Amino acid sequence: MRNEIALAISNAVVVDDYLRVREYSMILAAPLSEEDCCAQSMPDASPVKWHLAHTSWFFETFILEQYERGFRPFHPAFRVLFNSYYDGVGDKHPRPQRGMLTRPSLAEVRDYRADVDRRMQALLQSGDCDAACLRLLELGMQHEQQHQELILTDLKHLLSLNPLKPFYLPRALQAMPVQSELEWHAFEADVVEIGHGGGTGFCFDNELPRHRQFVEAYALGSRLISNIEYLMFVEQGGYENPAHWLSAGWEWRCANKVGHPLYWHRQADGGWQEFTLHGMLPLDPHAAVLHLSYYEADAYARWAGARLPTEAEWEHAASLLGNEGRQLFGTAWQWTSSSYAPYPGYEIPAGAVGEYNGKFMVNQYVLRGSSGATPQGHSRLSYRNFFPAATCWQYSGIRLARSL
Ligand SMILES: [Fe+2]
Repeated sequence: MRNEIALAISNAVVVDDYLRVREYSMILAAPLSEEDCCAQSMPDASPVKWHLAHTSWFFETFILEQYERGFRPFHPAFRVLFNSYYDGVGDKHPRPQRGMLTRPSLAEVRDYRADVDRRMQALLQSGDCDAACLRLLELGMQHEQQHQELILTDLKHLLSLNPLKPFYLPRALQAMPVQSELEWHAFEADVVEIGHGGGTGFCFDNELPRHRQFVEAYALGSRLISNIEYLMFVEQGGYENPAHWLSAGWEWRCANKVGHPLYWHRQADGGWQEFTLHGMLPLDPHAAVLHLSYYEADAYARWAGARLPTEAEWEHAASLLGNEGRQLFGTAWQWTSSSYAPYPGYEIPAGAVGEYNGKFMVNQYVLRGSSGATPQGHSRLSYRNFFPAATCWQYSGIRLARSL
């Protein structure tokens, strides 16, 4: 009897956690119109409606299909429509055409979410969800949180292309911390351990295994680079001098005529404004510079007489420093100079979810920390975000490092 009560309580906690994560996606979508939710601004970004459906697809395909008794899909076509990149699952609707999906309607996608939630709740209360199923549940919730950040970044890109410069929220996502003088934290050469310990707490497979790396003596910047600091680079011709740029970066900058960060706008009087999720605002000189590609971050670092940190340097320093006043977490993802590659001893998980991370370990760079768009509780020291070098619609910024 006591065991049954304990099981019922732990099931209720799991159901609560699941529903809380699911509800937050709907909270993010609540201020949006159906048109806002359907449009796709570029192939890299997805419509909000697609995010809402795809995150439900993840639970339906990887959990309900396997564990629900008498499984029947909500809609047989959704298996293809809302498959993102899982070749093991089968066909996919082409990513650049997600914005063409005027059907199913947003109301139908809401029904899909409600149906998946009802069935997930029943499964979790049935006792049929074993340890492997619970691991998939955790992965599904973490996956949904990743898409919650993408909802914000993709929406920001979409709204930025509208000449009306509409706002999504009437106020900032978060208060930006006041900037202090940039200082340098020095660390001696050492063999350091990085990666997730693998014990308690969730991590993605790409954070494993914890392992040793040798780092030479280095110093890490005490905070992120601010808009006013980056503006100096812009105003002093940083974008016009190829000496600061990687070859591929210079090609990217020339081909796309890039002369400033993605959402900056130069005014007729020479002042600057920045498009934000709460509309067009004067550039805040003391806020962290955001939405930079790897190429821009690297060029700035070179111009500033520094470099980007490696991910081992970042994680080692962050583990010793703590976040207080240092903007390690919660403001901007920080580009590192580390290519996204498997850690020594990394193993790709079995099954279709093995496609989650491992197959993307080429031609991308690791970003560390988390941003103002990252959901609460979705960041940790060993977290490895990754994007191709030209990516700038994410909340990506600069933390500098120096060799000593
Ligand atoms: Fe996904």
